[in-house]
Amino acid sequence: MLEIDGLTTRYGSISALRDASLTVGSGEVVGLIGPNGAGKTTLMGTIAGLLKPAAGSVRFEDRNVTGWAPDRMLRAGVALVPEHRRIFTDLSVVENLRLGGVTTPPRERSELLDEMVELFPSLEERWTTSAGYLSGGEAQQLAIARALMSRPRLLMMDEPSLGLAPVLVDVVFELIANLASRGRTLLVVEQNATRMLDVADRAYVLRSGEVVAEGTGDELLGQGDLFETFVGTGNG
Ligand SMILES: Nc1ncnc2c1ncn2[C@@H]1O[C@H](COP(=O)(O)OP(=O)(O)OP(=O)(O)O)[C@@H](O)[C@H]1O
Ligand SMILES: [Mg+2]
Repeated sequence: MLEIDGLTTRYGSISALRDASLTVGSGEVVGLIGPNGAGKTTLMGTIAGLLKPAAGSVRFEDRNVTGWAPDRMLRAGVALVPEHRRIFTDLSVVENLRLGGVTTPPRERSELLDEMVELFPSLEERWTTSAGYLSGGEAQQLAIARALMSRPRLLMMDEPSLGLAPVLVDVVFELIANLASRGRTLLVVEQNATRMLDVADRAYVLRSGEVVAEGTGDELLGQGDLFETFVGTGNG
């Protein structure tokens, strides 16, 4: 479904991503792990069209979408839940969700809202509350729900559990498992490497802008010390 080949992205003279290649198959849950500054956000930003690659290609569903603008990528079926869960804090929960669905045909929007209530029951109680009053966990759920309102065929999430209390980290990983069981295709950046490997079909390890390892959880964890070296210590 997604095919990244030799992708390089620079900030000025710094190559934050170097010759990265990876694939995500339809219905697959793929993790992207690696230490701070590895280029994980840069990779997702480049796929989503927020950053222009200096070299390499992005193919999505057999189309070359390299360098497409973010709104075009969204319409093509790729949604990103960005780092730090950006939501519109002055708008209510339901208004945020409606905005997430602007590219969705109106007749499908109410059906999708029902689906979001089912997936995120705690959001329904906050339906007309300003998003600025949500807790960190609720805000993250809203950010994910908003992205789902665009009916993405590929959903990318950048560190969805970051900064959440342990019980809410559990909620995020349960949600990922739930979306996986519904056949969703996910690419998820996580610092919480071992937990991500639990729910992912496969993962890529990024380090200093390069893909340094790829495999199933068992394959990567089987590399023992090497895995620690790749991912860095203290990643749960
Ligand atoms: N806007 C920017 N301008 C210049 N350099 C940047 C910019 N954003 C990121 N970088 C650099 O690019 C490299 C990759 O950063 P990136 O944010 O992609 O890493 P990351 O793996 O997402 O890290 P983290 O785990 O901290 O989120 C880092 O060296 C970072 O300092
Ligand atoms: Mg990042």
